[in-house]
Amino acid sequence: MAEQISLTQHLGQLRDRELAQLIAVVAGLSADIRREFPHRLITENAVENKYGEFTRELDDWTNKEFCRALIGSKLVRKVYSEELAEPLLGEPGAPFEVTMDPLDGSSNIVANNPFGSIFGVWRKSLPATGREQVAAFFKLYGPITTLVYTTSETKKVAEFVKARKGVVQYNLLYDGLTIPDEGKVYGVGGNPLDFDEKYGGFLKRLVFGHKLKTRYCGAFVADFSQILHYGGYFGYGGTRKSPNGKLRLFFESNPIALIAEHAGGRSSDGGKSILDVKSDNMEQRVPTHVGNKHIIEELEETLK
Ligand code: AHG
Ligand code: MN
Ligand code: MN
Repeated sequence: MAEQISLTQHLGQLRDRELAQLIAVVAGLSADIRREFPHRLITENAVENKYGEFTRELDDWTNKEFCRALIGSKLVRKVYSEELAEPLLGEPGAPFEVTMDPLDGSSNIVANNPFGSIFGVWRKSLPATGREQVAAFFKLYGPITTLVYTTSETKKVAEFVKARKGVVQYNLLYDGLTIPDEGKVYGVGGNPLDFDEKYGGFLKRLVFGHKLKTRYCGAFVADFSQILHYGGYFGYGGTRKSPNGKLRLFFESNPIALIAEHAGGRSSDGGKSILDVKSDNMEQRVPTHVGNKHIIEELEETLK
């Protein structure tokens, strides 16, 4: 059997040593986090978060674990989190600002469907555009735990699997991962009754023209992971009621958009790449579309 390449070895290729260290810190928490899932699954919090959502104990717990590790690394000067009303401050001279969705897909907890964690990393001070991210990565807690990362230095996407129980070791699954040319699946968030006709027409063409199969997981990380592997389209677009959709630009859409584009695909807010969306509001929501280049171009053409 060929020798396996570990995440540590893979990160060794990066010239940006601080960034390599930061990604390793977050990867190192996986065993602790996974171990806690069964004990903290169900409990709902009595208070709403800044979006007016009732979060679960697991949202808060993962948030605290990641905050502790990120600030403790001394590499992060500010952590912006979906679950924090204000950014958490670290060493003022530290190199990075990080955005995170510590638990993405928390409505999947009760049904034991997958969920994940999403991170965006900037050297610049936020707010900045997604294109200015120096790295983006996510963890997906499915039957196995995977970690996918990309950097502005390599512009490549690599996926790893957590290999050993207890010991946090990640082994390389795919290097230079690219979205397959022929898309197979599509997933769409939101209530179809609220979609406008143009978008509805585009979705029909995905089925009858592109012959894509429906697959919707209910966690952005998992929905995107299948696009990365099978090709196709995922969208949580604007609706008549919520023109900006549900997904948050800084905590969810920017990091996934960077990974999608470095994997040879496209992201879009309906008119342009998500990576070029400018906002001074860290809580901004954005219509989010990711997938094969030709499919996203067709979407933008349709929505014009
Ligand atoms: P979060 O759990 O961080 O609040 O994010 C949930 C998001 C995202 O993961 C997913 O794409 C979407 O919400 C699911 O929404 P629906 O419940 O409307 O399907
Ligand atoms: Mn989320
Ligand atoms: Mn979340």
